[in-house]
This record gives sequence, C-alpha cells and structure tokens, in this order.
Amino acid sequence: MNMKGRHFLTLRDFSPEEIEALIDLSARLKKEKKEGRPHRHLEGKNVVLLFQKDSTRTRCAFEVASYDLGMNVTYIGSSGSQMGTKESIEDTARVLGRMFDGIEFRGYEHSDIEKLAEHAGVPVWNGLTDMYHPTQILADFLTVKEEFGRLRGIRLTYVGDAKNNMGNSLMLGCAKLGMHFTAVAPQALWPTQEHIDHCKAVAKETGATITLTEDKWEGTKDVDVIYTDVWVSMGSGKDVWASRIASLHDYQVTKALMDHASDDAIFMHCLPAFHGMNTEIGVQIAAQFGQQYPCVAGGEMEVKNDVIESERSRVFEEAENRMHTIKAVMLATMRDAHE
Ligand code: CP
Ligand code: NVA
Repeated sequence: MNMKGRHFLTLRDFSPEEIEALIDLSARLKKEKKEGRPHRHLEGKNVVLLFQKDSTRTRCAFEVASYDLGMNVTYIGSSGSQMGTKESIEDTARVLGRMFDGIEFRGYEHSDIEKLAEHAGVPVWNGLTDMYHPTQILADFLTVKEEFGRLRGIRLTYVGDAKNNMGNSLMLGCAKLGMHFTAVAPQALWPTQEHIDHCKAVAKETGATITLTEDKWEGTKDVDVIYTDVWVSMGSGKDVWASRIASLHDYQVTKALMDHASDDAIFMHCLPAFHGMNTEIGVQIAAQFGQQYPCVAGGEMEVKNDVIESERSRVFEEAENRMHTIKAVMLATMRDAHE
C-alpha cells in the first residue's frame, strides 16, 4: 500500500485498509526498536515540528521517531517564528516546504492545517487541532490490538467531552475499523450532527455501530474499553471550567464505572490527565470548585486516581505507542512502499 506524498490530517482521508496498514507498520517498527534493529530508512531527510500549543508526548514522539528514522528535526514553538504574526500560513507553508521533507503541525483551527497542507508541497501531519487528533487514534488502536488481538467488534465507550478532538477522532476511527463506539456525555457535548452522520454512514459500510447516550450506566455496560479525556481542552478559556464541571462532574470515570464494564475491560486516556493534587490546575480547580463538587476536591477530574493507577489502566502503553505510530505515519508518507 503506497501512501507516499499523502498528508495525514484526519482519518476521514484514509480507508480502513490504509489505517490497518499503518497500525501493522507501527507494530513492526515497535518490534524492530525493541530488538535493537536499526531502521534509518529516511537518513538525511529533514522535518519541522510546528507547535502553537504545548505538548509532551506528541513533540517527543515526533522527535524520537525522526531520529530513529535517521532524520534531522527543527522544533518551532508558539513564539519565535513569524507564522501568524508577520507571515501568513500559506507563505510559511511555501517557505518550509522548500527546506523540509515533512511538516508536523499542532494548532487551533483545523482549516489552518488544511491551508498548510495545500501550500507546503510536502507531507503535513496533524499533531492535534481543535477538531481532530489522528495520530493519537493510531496509538490507541495499536494499544487495543495488543490487548485484545483485534479491533473489529471491540466495544469502546468514550466518557466526557465527546465534542472535542478526541471524541470526534475516536468516533471516526471506530467507524472506520468496524468497532462499536459509544459516547457517554450530556447532549450539549456530543459531536456535531454532521460528524455523527458522517461516522454513521462509514459505520454502515464497516459493520461498526455508533451510539450516543447521556446514561453512563447504559453506555458502559459490558464494554471492552472505557476512554476519557480532559473536560477542558487546550485553547479553551479558564472560564469554561465552571460550566464543564457543572455538566460533567457526574461523568467522572470511577472504579464503579469500570466494574460495570466487561471483566477484562481496560481504561484508556490520551493524557495529560487530572487525577490528583500534583498539577497546578488540579490544585486550582480543587480550591475553586471542591466545596460545591466534592468529586473534584482532590484534584481528580475526568478520572479517579485509583482507576488511572489500577491494573486496568493502559495509559502509559498508549503514550509509548504514540512514538511507534507516528514513526509509521512519517515512514509511510515519505517513502515508496517498495523502497
Ligand atoms: N496525548 C497528547 O497529545 O499529549 P501531548 O499534549 O503531551 O502531546
Ligand atoms: N482534548 C485534549 C487532548 C490533548 C491531547 C486537548 O485538545 O487539549
């Protein structure tokens, strides 16, 4: 399967077979790395990483994967370049496309990465926009496949802000790969009707199912995976916390909810996660809202500490798999399949 020259902006652009091929390539590259077998297939190429928002996993995954493939990396953070202030995205794309062989972008509006891709002339990879986080889905699905040996037919329930980039991307990924996706959230936090309709149409072709419910017990009964993400995503104002806690405090992933899932269910989270008093925001939220909402008084928000620290948790496997899957995306889009 040849994906050379393709952008990786959203899973909408990729067929189920292509997504599966990327997951299989990730597994192969992971094995090679574990066995200490070098795979410097892109020796001497150069990539640039553009981050308008902070990152630990995505940045490090792109950097380490690039080094493992023999490439050189330039990192540009939210300040320090001309992009957006003195220079348009279109002009930045044309400049960087002449110097680099590939461009990673993390930003706000999804239309920004589309503009970058239109003008760059080299592959552009989405490291997260407000709408999608597609490299995260590959890592999550590699993790699920490692756990259960398959993806088709797996029942995955996402609990929380289902309207955000993770809710959108998981629903789409599950639809593409014939999985049973449920979003558990207040209706105001469901994905847009357009995205739901698109995913349902895809699901019809693949045997997947898409369910949306406000009932956390109904939506988690006997499922294989319970997944959650932060209640307030990067780029949202601090003022959003009050309304999100009000609407989501009853959707915290607790041990009781995990016990309602299947006996061998796992817990997943893209991270970073709020699960205690060891982050600045966790402490602030606890002080501000803890009295009104006792469930956040300990800095635990979308997930209880005893769930994320439990044997069912696979969050650090997912984090590691970011690197192997991002490596596969870069390799597949920069090299002919037969090279
Ligand atoms: N999961 C994820 O994208 O993490 P970072 O924000 O640290 O990159
Ligand atoms: N929804 C989160 C994902 C972080 C990886 C955010 O956009 O902040």
